[in-house]
Amino acid sequence: MAQELRFDGRTVIVTGAGGGLGRAYALAFASRGANVVVNDLGVSRGGDGSSSAAADKVVDEIIKAGGKAVANYNSVEDGDKIVETAVKAFGKVDIVINNAGILRDKSFSRMTDVDWDLIQAVHVRGSYKVTKAAWDIFRKQKFGRIINTASAAGIYGNFGQANYSAAKLALVSFTETLAKEGAKSNIHANVIAPIAASRMTETIMPPDVLAALKPEYVAPLVLYLCHESTEENGSLFEVGAGFVAKLRWERSKGAVFKADDTFLPGCVAAKWNEITDFTNPDFPSSPGDADFVGLLEKAKALSSNPKSDDLRFDGKVA
Ligand code: NAI
Repeated sequence: MAQELRFDGRTVIVTGAGGGLGRAYALAFASRGANVVVNDLGVSRGGDGSSSAAADKVVDEIIKAGGKAVANYNSVEDGDKIVETAVKAFGKVDIVINNAGILRDKSFSRMTDVDWDLIQAVHVRGSYKVTKAAWDIFRKQKFGRIINTASAAGIYGNFGQANYSAAKLALVSFTETLAKEGAKSNIHANVIAPIAASRMTETIMPPDVLAALKPEYVAPLVLYLCHESTEENGSLFEVGAGFVAKLRWERSKGAVFKADDTFLPGCVAAKWNEITDFTNPDFPSSPGDADFVGLLEKAKALSSNPKSDDLRFDGKVA
């Protein structure tokens, strides 16, 4: 039996914790001793309206089970107010779970500026605002754990989700940078692409599949990543239905060209197989992981570029 990871004395903010995944995280943290700020604006799936009922219900559940929790009804766009609630109620904040989210799915041709802006505001700006308000507290206390919420749609793209997928991938790079900047202050940031039954997914999946996708099956990874004993930092995971896997970037060995005026678009075509060959890939994790000096040397050593006809674009407008 695995040892129980405890969070006694830790204060956790879970945004969008009035339902779905956020509720499962809030209950799980509280059952292991954490003080929990249950944030939820109480909006519809598309972000309309507002209500305190969703957050209140989860706070009641936690308190009835003997846990410690307070509600907060602000939008994540007012992240400083959510952090203020944590500090007022519990004196500090140790863990931020940026989970709140909405959907405005439409094919790109039908997507409006409002659909685009609302999604960026809640997911990207909201995660930024809550994290920003907690950041200096984390730095001063030399401890902080952050979970951001991406999505498979963000990693792979998905029909009807240009706005949402752009926002979700932004949260991956946001996390990667926070991890690099926070490491020296014992601030760890990781990002998950969950899959779970919730009001977000109930209309797009059959009932038997939904039954296997309990939000409670995502919570174990989130809690593990937030524990003080966990070193993982800056990583992306897919998680759901009892499956947990880490993802990373993969770069083909690539092709090198002589950087002079014989390097034409047709040369790229001539080496396309090399450019896209993943037989011996690298797994870069920072901008410095490309050996530019070595690549320049290699390019210099080339006697010539592949002979090719230049590509023409006559008649096209660019
Ligand atoms: P959900 O709709 O059940 O829960 C989201 C909660 O966020 C709602 O209670 C809502 O009131 C709250 N919320 C929305 N806007 C808010 C705002 N501005 N401020 C504060 N609270 C706000 O959705 P679910 O499925 O639990 O999603 C949680 C997160 O996981 C979201 O970020 C979602 O994009 C992400 N996700 C979920 C997947 C799934 O399979 N359920 C798949 C991939 C990502």
